[in-house]
Amino acid sequence: MPENHGTKPRILTGDTPTSRLHLGHYVGSIENRLRLQDQYDCYFLLANMHAFTTKAESPEEIRTSTIEIVKDWLACGIDPDKATIALQTEIPAIAELTWFFAMLLPFNRVLRNPTLKTEIDAKGLGDTYSFGFPMYAVGQCADILAFLPELIPVGEDQVAHIEMCREVARRFNQVFCAVDPQTEDDDYPARGGLFPIPKALVGRIGRLVGTDGNNKMSKSLGNAIFLSDSPKEVKKKIGAMYPGQSRNPDEPGNVEINPVFQYADVFLTDRALLEDLKDRYRRGDNLGDGHVKAHVIEAINALLEPIRARRAMYEGPGGDDLVIDIIRAGTARANDLTERTLHEAKRAMRLDFGPRSLRWAPR
Ligand code: TRP
Repeated sequence: MPENHGTKPRILTGDTPTSRLHLGHYVGSIENRLRLQDQYDCYFLLANMHAFTTKAESPEEIRTSTIEIVKDWLACGIDPDKATIALQTEIPAIAELTWFFAMLLPFNRVLRNPTLKTEIDAKGLGDTYSFGFPMYAVGQCADILAFLPELIPVGEDQVAHIEMCREVARRFNQVFCAVDPQTEDDDYPARGGLFPIPKALVGRIGRLVGTDGNNKMSKSLGNAIFLSDSPKEVKKKIGAMYPGQSRNPDEPGNVEINPVFQYADVFLTDRALLEDLKDRYRRGDNLGDGHVKAHVIEAINALLEPIRARRAMYEGPGGDDLVIDIIRAGTARANDLTERTLHEAKRAMRLDFGPRSLRWAPR
């Protein structure tokens, strides 16, 4: 049983196992999770159902990514003795709450969600995406609220989803728990609401640019540096970056628009060195892009080195089994909590015909 369990305010967040984790995940959310895992009762959800909304034909790939993401979390320092790692598809309360919440949201409200729109463009989903794709945004409200959390550490792109989640929580409390609509967000539980109105916590860098220098870092755009990349891969990816319009030979360098400097800003721990590089670059001193890149490569590798070392412990034979044990134990704990939330939600909805205990019969 994790030492924080039940006594501290809760955190819930998750990742969709469509790819391994990259540096954008790290600075957008993982850093916050590491910082907060001592003070909060943390739940980290493997949102594997969401992976099926765009990749239903690749179940094997989703399974592999699910296990790889847990390895990434553990490698970063997420400690399963402090935080609970749980698998969405084995938490039935989430699926049930998704249905109830779908009834509290206008259809067009869901489709207007800007994060869904951005994703449709970025992943080239066109107009043939599954019905389940926009549905995941409703599901994410259930992912969160099933755990009654206070805080949700996420990257900037998730804030629209969290806003919808907050709307659903208010609506449920008003409709089924008779809470006055004028109530302040923080007061809902005290006024008899089941759900708290949780807050997004955006990381130090809400949106990290990819190695293409234009788009948000993401696997589907091929511009990501993964936490599991080797030193060689990091060197190659940074080495191939284009410095943007900042190298007009007649003008001094422009650090603002050079994506290599954006990385320098994020990853160089030696701030004096960073300022010195910027000054020299701006002045047009004889400071080549290769020189700046070398510092960035070194800084990223310094960050990734301990992560690689810890990851290696799970990469040998038996590593996957260890991960699956951690998922099973965490999911059991998550079900203790979320079944109770579901039961209370049903009671508020006059659906309290339980309790239930489910088994399946042999054929
Ligand atoms: N949609 C999130 C992402 O793409 C992942 C996610 C699923 C999530 N469920 C969640 C994040 C609940 C926070 C809370 O990054």
